[in-house]
Amino acid sequence: MTDQANKLREKVTSRAESSPRDRKTKVIAITSGKGGVGKSNVCLNLALSMEALDKKVMILDLDIGMANVDVLMGVTPKETLLSMLKKNLSLDEVLETGVNGLTYIAGGNGIGTVFSMTDDQLHHFFNEFSSLQGKVDYIILDTGAGLTPESMRFLQAADDIFIVLNPEPPSITDAYAVLKALHSKNANLPVKLIVNRTVSDQEGEQASANFLRASEQLLNKPIEVLGYIPDDDAVRKAVMEQTPFLLQYPRSKASLAINQIARTYLELPTQYKLGVKGFLMKTLFHK
Ligand SMILES: Nc1ncnc2c1ncn2[C@@H]1O[C@H](COP(=O)(O)OP(=O)(O)OP(=O)(O)O)[C@@H](O)[C@H]1O
Ligand SMILES: [Mg+2]
Repeated sequence: MTDQANKLREKVTSRAESSPRDRKTKVIAITSGKGGVGKSNVCLNLALSMEALDKKVMILDLDIGMANVDVLMGVTPKETLLSMLKKNLSLDEVLETGVNGLTYIAGGNGIGTVFSMTDDQLHHFFNEFSSLQGKVDYIILDTGAGLTPESMRFLQAADDIFIVLNPEPPSITDAYAVLKALHSKNANLPVKLIVNRTVSDQEGEQASANFLRASEQLLNKPIEVLGYIPDDDAVRKAVMEQTPFLLQYPRSKASLAINQIARTYLELPTQYKLGVKGFLMKTLFHK
């Protein structure tokens, strides 16, 4: 790390630890073992459900696959996080407003270059993102499936990690592999579980019991299960219609489940960490 980056780190660490304002915004990272389990749909609809519960939520889309959050909303982002760095744009210029006023930022292709920024870019990135402090209650990251070195850094820096899995054994096994990899870096990562595409609550219970049993020896505290989302045609239809299922089919089983998950999560005792600056510090400087 360069001297300038080191200085920035020192300055920000001392500020992040002392300012109570820095504790306001919480960062949630959504991940999975296998791809296609429903992360982006959970991310978008959960964000909307939390907004309906009076929380200000912003999505940071770090998934560079096909079904990005913007596609699910039917919006085409003009700029991305990466173009912000390349063109020296302000955060406001890359912040998009999607359905129901939900704000989001598209990561852009090659998000890994975020970790090889010049010092000037680093400062710019840091200052722009720090301005979010206190303006949003939650930042939800939609990370890609599996663990790339980049997603690993974002996940490790988040206040909460939601692992999404499907009830099939391979999905559970892959999710467990992700948990193990995360655990090897930090034994106290705040992981929570969401089971998507269940045919019954019983199936959800079974899948989470299997996951919890596998992870029992690894972890010294149980993982919180946030809930089960049924396999629902409303989700498929909403994806085709490029509208979030929560808005298009608010009474569908999937929507009711998402609302329940949002309530369950928001009712958990909150332990605010270092907020936006703390998150940036960890993402950018911790290997
Ligand atoms: N609860 C559900 N009921 C029915 N279909 C679902 C459900 N959840 C997801 N799907 C289907 O799975 C597809 C993939 O969902 P999504 O794009 O959210 O997954 P993802 O985990 O983000 O994928 P990727 O790993 O590629 O980013 C959706 O387009 C939809 O057809
Ligand atoms: Mg996705």
